[in-house]
Amino acid sequence: MKFSRTALGVLMLSASSVGAMDLNPDDPENVKSVASTIAAGMRKWYTGDRPGDVPGNLPQPYYWWEAGAMFGALIDYQYYTGDTQYNDITTKAMVHQIGENNAFMPLNQTKTLGNDDQAFWGMAAMSAAEVKFPDPPEGQSSWLSLAQGVFNTQASRWDTTTCGGGLRWQIFQFNNGYNYKNTISNGCFFNIAARLGKYTGNQTYVDWAEKMWDWVESIHLMEIQKDGGYHFYDGSDDTINCTKANHIQWTYNAGVFLLGAATMWNITDSDIWKTRTTRIINGTNVFFSNDAPNVMTEVACEGNGKCDVDQRSFKAYLSRWMAATIKVAPWTFDLIMPRLRASAVAAAKQCSGGEDGKTCGLKWTTNGVWDGSYGVGEQMSALEVVQAMLINKVDGPVSEKTGGISKSNPSAGSESTDKPITFDEITTGDKAGAGFLTALALIAILGGAWWMVS
Ligand SMILES: *[C@@H]1O[C@H](CO)[C@@H](O)[C@H](O)[C@H]1NC(C)=O
Ligand SMILES: *[C@@H]1O[C@H](CO)[C@@H](O)[C@H](O)[C@H]1NC(C)=O
Ligand SMILES: *[C@@H]1O[C@H](CO)[C@@H](O)[C@H](O)[C@H]1NC(C)=O
Ligand SMILES: *[C@@H]1O[C@H](CO)[C@@H](O)[C@H](O)[C@H]1NC(C)=O
Ligand SMILES: *[C@@H]1O[C@H](CO)[C@@H](O)[C@H](O)[C@H]1NC(C)=O
Repeated sequence: MKFSRTALGVLMLSASSVGAMDLNPDDPENVKSVASTIAAGMRKWYTGDRPGDVPGNLPQPYYWWEAGAMFGALIDYQYYTGDTQYNDITTKAMVHQIGENNAFMPLNQTKTLGNDDQAFWGMAAMSAAEVKFPDPPEGQSSWLSLAQGVFNTQASRWDTTTCGGGLRWQIFQFNNGYNYKNTISNGCFFNIAARLGKYTGNQTYVDWAEKMWDWVESIHLMEIQKDGGYHFYDGSDDTINCTKANHIQWTYNAGVFLLGAATMWNITDSDIWKTRTTRIINGTNVFFSNDAPNVMTEVACEGNGKCDVDQRSFKAYLSRWMAATIKVAPWTFDLIMPRLRASAVAAAKQCSGGEDGKTCGLKWTTNGVWDGSYGVGEQMSALEVVQAMLINKVDGPVSEKTGGISKSNPSAGSESTDKPITFDEITTGDKAGAGFLTALALIAILGGAWWMVS
């Protein structure tokens, strides 16, 4: 059978309008219903609750860190919508992945464990404490203590042997990527330190957040560009003492620093942090489309179709942290909300693919057309931006003084030595895979990448 171009166009149009979700950001019931559909589409990927499977793991090709990020999204989902149906799988998964030292360092992940990987689980625990997600059963680590465990293990890794400080990407020396000091690892630490400072009122965390910010700026992993905004680059190599950065820009780096800076403003009430927060928001201009006004795009890879599995989830985190920023720095509302709104409507509209007609793709700038991609990252990104439309219906993050219930353990994780207790040999495959990545990063730094955005 042969369709004329017009007939096919009409057919596709009607097919996409069957599944497409029209989001009304001003109608909380509608937002909840759309979020619920998208969350169900994400949850379908999770197999860790099946008999014989490992709680907390996503199947191939998803890395361990993205599972931590996904449970963070489900904690947000419960917070925004009040729907508790995923609480049980979330708690079981997070408890199973704690590892030996109360710090999300399970032995199974040793071969590829980065500070950023560990931190994504840590930030999920931090969110759980902030939104009073029920703590794990008595006798097990509290959410707050898990975030403290991640903080303590990472603070002890502060490395002054090169680049004047900072965290390395990888935790263990035998892993490729140990030489890379990447922005997301350092940004996650900044984010956790600021939020712990706010939650506990303990100045030590606040001081660490200041120290991290200063270091990241000093080696130019972030810079104020001509537009007056802060821009965040990918990372730098310590074999060249971080003298050159890989200038590619990702949404999640801006996001992780945005919430940290806004939280620092909330703690300090200082103009310095207010200006920094504004500059980060202004710098996110690079991630919002002109063709589809105010719609978020992963500018480094959406256009060229090269977003990898990890990168397909990054917009989830910028969305998540932009929304959370409004709660701790309410004056950001007018700067942030128009972008989240336009992005949420656009994201929901293109969730029209797959057999169910509700599968979300990667690109939101397509005016409702599903781009054919699908997966955990695509669902998670649409979920976070859609549920952010409920931001005015929820309370802000609690602290110990304002109703927090998660138990503090300031020394959690401090018994960790960062020495893996058992370690099965790295296979050549693992080595080659990671080495390839590192080589790419170096080429990007030294050669200047054509897809870099600066
Ligand atoms: C580590 O892997 C083993 C074997 O697959 C599994 O039984 C165990 O539950 C895993 N532990 C964690 C924390 O993932
Ligand atoms: C490496 O960089 C740091 C921070 O910029 C600087 O303090 C240090 O002197 C540099 N080391 C060398 C050997 O150039
Ligand atoms: C940020 O952007 C706003 C709105 O465009 C502008 O008024 C403000 O001056 C900018 N702030 C900085 C620090 O560049
Ligand atoms: C600081 O954050 C809390 C939410 O945790 C919020 O209620 C409060 O209004 C914020 N402070 C200021 C000065 O905006
Ligand atoms: C504050 O945090 C630091 C760093 O974790 C810890 O050593 C100290 O005991 C904490 N202080 C209090 C009063 O909890």
